[in-house]
Amino acid sequence: MSDHIVTVVGSGYVGTTTAALLAASGIKTFALDIDEAKLAKLNAGKAPFFEVGLDSLVAQGIESGNLIPTSSYEEAIPQSTIVMSAVGTPDNPDGSPNLKYVFSALSSIAENASGPLVYVQKSTVPVGTGKEIIEKYAKQSDHGLNYVSAPEFLREGTAVVDSIEPDRIVVGSTDSASAQIITQIFLDIASKRNDIAQISEQTLRNLPEPEVFTMSIESAELTKVTANAFLALKISFANSIAKLADATNADVVEVMDAVGADKRIGRAFLNAGRGYGGGCFPKDVKGLISSAKASNVDMSIMTAASELNESMPSYVVDQLGDVSEKKITILGLAFKAGTSDVRKSPGIKIANILQNSGAIVTAFDPQAHEEARPELDESIVLAESAQIACSGAEIIIIATEWAEFTSVDFSVAKGALLFDAMNLLDSGEIRGKALDYKGVGRKA
Ligand code: UGA
Repeated sequence: MSDHIVTVVGSGYVGTTTAALLAASGIKTFALDIDEAKLAKLNAGKAPFFEVGLDSLVAQGIESGNLIPTSSYEEAIPQSTIVMSAVGTPDNPDGSPNLKYVFSALSSIAENASGPLVYVQKSTVPVGTGKEIIEKYAKQSDHGLNYVSAPEFLREGTAVVDSIEPDRIVVGSTDSASAQIITQIFLDIASKRNDIAQISEQTLRNLPEPEVFTMSIESAELTKVTANAFLALKISFANSIAKLADATNADVVEVMDAVGADKRIGRAFLNAGRGYGGGCFPKDVKGLISSAKASNVDMSIMTAASELNESMPSYVVDQLGDVSEKKITILGLAFKAGTSDVRKSPGIKIANILQNSGAIVTAFDPQAHEEARPELDESIVLAESAQIACSGAEIIIIATEWAEFTSVDFSVAKGALLFDAMNLLDSGEIRGKALDYKGVGRKA
């Protein structure tokens, strides 16, 4: 059992996964959130959202008493030696990150601290935020604050496995003792990967031990957004090439398989499709553009990537011809498979554009109906299964790469166009089922 007691502020994807893993590694951990509905779910042994393998870790944490959900800063902070901030950082209308939750949590921490704290930033924040937090805290509390930037690289849908088998651990701090403590905590979680994988019923990828990078706070902050921006850039690049492939009768999957086989380039994140969504890439790309603007640095490379991405949902719709009065089914509303998250979901954008263009739209997602409903035009019908959704459709669009969509019997929509906006399926097989097939940047 560790000497440290940790409070994780914010029970979103990053906060809940981090808190559950800390608890699983033997650390008493408060999961602090002001949302009582999230706390009720945690107390019932469930994650507040769908994430593969996380429910069983939360359940075990609650059962062991290591994971303590609370809404009380008064309860959690005085007992803690380490506070990890994982609150939401939504974007402002101009694309800059909105840090109001980061700063309001900081004030509550300052009000309740009873001694020096190690403060770990897990939320994605613009470069320079750490310095601002250190200055603000010094004005609000007489106790010391050792600031550590420990950016998170987990992906939704594979959050548990990504966290126990990380490629790298990045720690930015001016205090080497704090950096050492935090590095050790995350290395310890990685060293317990076999046990944690067993509890969460996850299959490990057998990756080597993570590499540790210790650096300045500013470098750690910039590392996080740079990693996300580069991945987003790869996707937008692949989508630009997909548009050219469509115009020249090439096949972007064939092209990217061959291009990605060059080890200097790599195949990952070169899947063309309806563009990237979610709570991270769209926001982090815009956040980087906004940081660059504030420092008078040209970041037009990322402006182009962002604009290209925003063009993708309409590009998909434009490929369908006249959609007025057509019965169209959207398979997939989550921004990616393995999650119920619909933030900036391309599938929802496509569904709404189609409905506004006069199509009769039905949609299905295996996990995201509850989250998707308020975001969808109210006349869009949510079907009970993928099979029911496809029956009698004139056009079917795959907008999320859920594995179960590969086993739908599309013959219930004979003669329909199957538009695979994830390039998920093998077109040859579909032709056998007498469906017209088209992907993004793939031959019809
Ligand atoms: C992303 C990063 O991959 C994580 O490393 C990072 O920690 C996280 O953001 C974060 O900042 O919190 P996430 O947004 O969960 O993770 O999902 P990704 O798997 O990266 O996918 C993002 C979007 O890109 C999805 O809409 C996905 O469908 C799309 N995508 C991904 C493509 O269109 N093509 C690809 O080749 C890969």
